[in-house]
Amino acid sequence: MRRRPLQLLALFTAAAIASCGGGEEPTTDGGGPDAPAERPLSDAVDLYVGGTAPTCQFCHGEQGAGGMMGPSIDALDEHWDVDTLAAFLLDPPSGLAESERLTELAGRYSMPMPKPSGFDESDARVMARWLLEGMPR
Ligand code: HEC
Repeated sequence: MRRRPLQLLALFTAAAIASCGGGEEPTTDGGGPDAPAERPLSDAVDLYVGGTAPTCQFCHGEQGAGGMMGPSIDALDEHWDVDTLAAFLLDPPSGLAESERLTELAGRYSMPMPKPSGFDESDARVMARWLLEGMPR
């Protein structure tokens, strides 16, 4: 009996799809009907390493591992979702004032997190998405 190439192809395709599932799902960000198209997460990388000084990386280290000036930011989903984190990034002093945990955290460093200069809401959202979903661990 002859093999049936189409059947093999179908199996192969199914396996390929299964093995790359996850991680590619579009994120729902609750931005409402007028929300602009989502920016690529690579924009956040640029802001993290190359935004206005002092950069995020200067204080939080490579890949958010933490440094002399700021805590590690690699387990954020315990405390934040995209909306709350974006709001914090736009105004860290207010977030700090409302949270005992952040106040305690800030007390370990020489200064609390400053307001990132030149950050707009779109920057804050793409950064929050990247920190929660895209940053390499
Ligand atoms: C001058 C150092 C400094 C810079 C620059 C800085 N941070 Fe922070 N960051 C801190 C400190 C200190 C804290 C601890 C809480 C506080 O001070 O508000 C913190 C807290 C945070 C948290 C909350 C951590 C948690 O456990 O919930 C996130 C997220 C964060 N920073 C992201 C960023 C991003 C993104 C940038 C760049 C736009 C940035 N930080 C720039 C020092 C810094």
